[in-house]
Amino acid sequence: MIQKTPAEIVLIKKACEITRDALVYAKTLVRPGISTYDLDKSIEKFIIESGGSPACLGYEGYPAATCISVNEMVVHGIPSKDIVLKEGDIVSIDIVVAYKGYHGDAARTYPVGSVSEEKEKLMRVTKECFFKGIENLRIGDRLGKLSHAIQAHAEGNGFSVVRELCGHGIGRKMHEAPSVLNYGKETDGPVISENAVLAIEPMINAGKKEIGMLSDGWGIVTRDKKPSAHYENTVLFSRSGLEILTLEKDDEHQNR
Ligand code: MF3
Ligand code: CO
Repeated sequence: MIQKTPAEIVLIKKACEITRDALVYAKTLVRPGISTYDLDKSIEKFIIESGGSPACLGYEGYPAATCISVNEMVVHGIPSKDIVLKEGDIVSIDIVVAYKGYHGDAARTYPVGSVSEEKEKLMRVTKECFFKGIENLRIGDRLGKLSHAIQAHAEGNGFSVVRELCGHGIGRKMHEAPSVLNYGKETDGPVISENAVLAIEPMINAGKKEIGMLSDGWGIVTRDKKPSAHYENTVLFSRSGLEILTLEKDDEHQNR
């Protein structure tokens, strides 16, 4: 596992702060009637004004600053003027910010107005999957401990885990080793090393785990058209413990 230097960690933390702030800002824009294109453009402006740059833009040819995925779209939704949010939707916003060559990556799923009980539960359980995954996770553990806890919590609530996509190391590159799976055995995976930085991102489906890709070559959707949620943070494994670098300051988990 790649270990970051103190100087690198400073820059990663700054990238992560901008990522977090951009998500908090995005949340204030989410309402019925706004297109995912307008959301993307506003978030892009916010990132640039904050001193960062939107790392998704141009990444392997990706055409927008952010990924915005509505309802049955799992991830990698390309923002569009034709996709207009409406009451009852859930919208996943995934943001990667680059700052002086280092990256921060986080995602949230937000409700648009009031949503069904199933969608509420899906969003809650997906976030819980992240926190169950990191519970008691420390340097020296196998990453499978996290993967297994995420899968157990999702399936224990009647939901399913997307297999084809996963979290990742992050730093100078958006995607670094290792792959951070959201399913698997506790005894599998690499050992977590000190000063590793990982993007941990459960993608949980309300129905079955199977996915497909849209003809645009990016959008990932559930095969059964049931909703999907995404919750992601960039996390540092420091000697003093695990630090969630993209967590909102007022999050209920902040001061545990
Ligand atoms: N945030 C995504 C991830 O965690 C990356 C989006 S793909 C991109 O892997 F092309 F939009 F960058
Ligand atoms: Co990511």
